[in-house]
Amino acid sequence: MLALNIPVRVYCLSVACALLLGCSATGVPPEDEEPEPSLRALAAERGLWIGAAASAGRLAAGGPYAAVLATEYNSVTPENALKFGPLRPSLESFAWSEADVLVDFALANGMGIRGHTLVWHAQNPLWLTEPNWTRAQLLGILENHIKTVVGRYKGRITAWDVVNEAVADDGSLRPSIWLDGIGPEYIERSFRWAREADPDALLFYNDYGAEGAGVKSDAVYALVQDLIAKEVPIDGVGLQMHVSTEWSPAEADVAVNMARLAEVGLRVHVTEMDVRMPLPAGASLLSVQAQIYGSMLETCLAASSCASFTLWGVGDADSWIPSHFPGYGAALIFDAAYEPKPAYSRMREVLQGGS
Ligand code: XIL
Repeated sequence: MLALNIPVRVYCLSVACALLLGCSATGVPPEDEEPEPSLRALAAERGLWIGAAASAGRLAAGGPYAAVLATEYNSVTPENALKFGPLRPSLESFAWSEADVLVDFALANGMGIRGHTLVWHAQNPLWLTEPNWTRAQLLGILENHIKTVVGRYKGRITAWDVVNEAVADDGSLRPSIWLDGIGPEYIERSFRWAREADPDALLFYNDYGAEGAGVKSDAVYALVQDLIAKEVPIDGVGLQMHVSTEWSPAEADVAVNMARLAEVGLRVHVTEMDVRMPLPAGASLLSVQAQIYGSMLETCLAASSCASFTLWGVGDADSWIPSHFPGYGAALIFDAAYEPKPAYSRMREVLQGGS
């Protein structure tokens, strides 16, 4: 059993209210007591977007998922639905339904939406990766993809991860269908096409392992500086923050990185945080996890540039970790039954200004 720091009764009241009232952020206080404010309500007071990655399948499956998502978060990132592979069954077609469900859900519940992601080396369809396209053909495919997808959600998706994980761990540009077929210019072209399609959307470069200090963080910084020098329309850097109870970046290094990005005029979003641990999850690792979530949230709140903090899933049953990191899991702040874990309480404390 996972430890609970929050009275379940209070939590259930707010979920029930959300279900009854179309997902109010705070629920209705019972006559004799104030409910504990949700993460969403606390984040709103701090001017922070607090988000979770979500899937249309989980929403359709029922259970507490939808109510927890809309009660505790004010931002949604489609976890897979907007990626090239899921969205493009063929060169001619777009499969919008799952992304539309998530966008409609977010708007109906007064939530922001982070679009993830337009250009990536992974989750691409075979019809794209198998043929030997010419450079001109690939440029055409990418331009059409970006303009169609960003254009469809113009005015609704507020921030896009335009380019995802273009930098390899050694700081070089990562080989991909885009780098190999187009050259490094695919990055700046993508940002320009996205800006043309929706001039008001915030455009991000997003990556993992670039949160704190190190070769990769420096390479990402150099890349975005270069884009700025070329007057490429980029608004920010997404720090994914997939970390573990065994390793997470030093708070001071993340603060320095956020500050240097702010100095060149960029925003920072924490875009995909989870804190995996070796299973089975015990009380001491849950407490380490809570401390890591809390310290990264504190660092974001203290940075003028950091306005959004998204977790990569709602509850532990939804997380990508067990299938991608065998033996690890329990990476989110709600457990597999959507009950809050110690990390949830810690995040609430941090949002309330506690130390
Ligand atoms: C992951 C999803 O969570 C999984 O469901 C999918 O099988 C693989 O991709 N970095 C990213 C995300 O930018 O898109 C990835 O999401 C996790 C790592």
